[in-house]
Amino acid sequence: MSRIQNLDHQYIASTYGRFPVVIKEGKGSVAVDENGRMLIDMGSGIAVNVFGYADERWKKAVISQLDKVSHTSNLYYTEPDVKLAKMLCDKSGMKKVFYCNSGAEANECAIKAARKYAAEKKGNDYYTIITLEHSFHGRTLTTLAATGQDVFHQLFTPLTPGFVHAKINDLEDVKRLAEENKTAAIMIECIQGEGGVNVLDEAFVQGIRELCDEKDLIMIVDEVQTGNGRTGVHYSYQNYNILPDVVTTAKGLGGGLPIGVTMLSDKVENIFAPGDNGSTFGGNPVVCAGACSILERLDSKMLAGVKQRSEYIFARLKDARGVRSVSGMGLMIGIEPENGSAGDIANKCLEKGVLVLTAHGNKVRLLPALNIPMDLLEKAMDIITEAFE
Ligand SMILES: Cc1ncc(COP(=O)(O)O)c(C=O)c1O
Repeated sequence: MSRIQNLDHQYIASTYGRFPVVIKEGKGSVAVDENGRMLIDMGSGIAVNVFGYADERWKKAVISQLDKVSHTSNLYYTEPDVKLAKMLCDKSGMKKVFYCNSGAEANECAIKAARKYAAEKKGNDYYTIITLEHSFHGRTLTTLAATGQDVFHQLFTPLTPGFVHAKINDLEDVKRLAEENKTAAIMIECIQGEGGVNVLDEAFVQGIRELCDEKDLIMIVDEVQTGNGRTGVHYSYQNYNILPDVVTTAKGLGGGLPIGVTMLSDKVENIFAPGDNGSTFGGNPVVCAGACSILERLDSKMLAGVKQRSEYIFARLKDARGVRSVSGMGLMIGIEPENGSAGDIANKCLEKGVLVLTAHGNKVRLLPALNIPMDLLEKAMDIITEAFE
């Protein structure tokens, strides 16, 4: 074990099972470890480095804003915040945004928006949020309660009350829970990430939209992992031809710096009053300037490139030896091995020079940078397919 690994084990809480590699630097889709070994990164920091490491345009935007205002507070207006807010609304169809620092916080805010809407419309007892089994919405005590995976709940109870979990792709189950509970909202990921790269059916997502309209429930779509171009459109719900009432995003939007955003549709754009929510660092001008540079580049050409790379990966995995199933959309792909564990395959890939992720349900998960060069992608897929054999 290297000196850095030893110090990590000594001084950093053991909340992560890390791969045995110290990342020292990186450029684009290539990470370099402390021994100078090059690794093709097919995880992009869990869907964060959308244009890879040390992206020049993002760096320029961040550095130039650092020279102006690195932080003020939410007591004052700043230009990067409004510029980013407008871009987010234009791309998502939402009307207003709230800034925070992570996906979990963005989901907390979405839950607050839904509960306030229901409390005002129907009464304080209409607080239940329906989420899905296998979902993942964060690690605060409220977003853990929203997360439909018991494995994350153990030893941390009592969690925030008022969450029930429906079966995925089972509209009748969602309807039953909406009948049985005084419900405020339904919250989904259109493609579940951590939970196993499970793609929701179109009829199911559209059925949830109709149910929310019928019962005046808030439809929240968690785009923390799926958002910002990852599935070949700006936000994954755009693949389903629906418009949610609240959308959350984070990860890739910041391009490598922390950001979370809760986006509010016209139904709830004025739900919050001063004091209802807040965040010291939310809307940090440096982070927002970097995020603007990311969104500016997510144009139709870039999104077409995501689809083209996605088709290439799916084609390489079709009929690949040792692969039981492939799921996902765009550059968010889950691969289930016929035999053995996804963790072992991830370690094999690392030995051969490729970083991949895993997901629940024994899946290897790929979340490469949206602009990964084709030659690197081909090389990575050679190694990944070999690791499955
Ligand atoms: C769908 C989804 N929601 C929420 C979160 C939590 O985001 P964060 O780790 O930024 O709090 C994640 C993180 O993986 C996620 O994938």
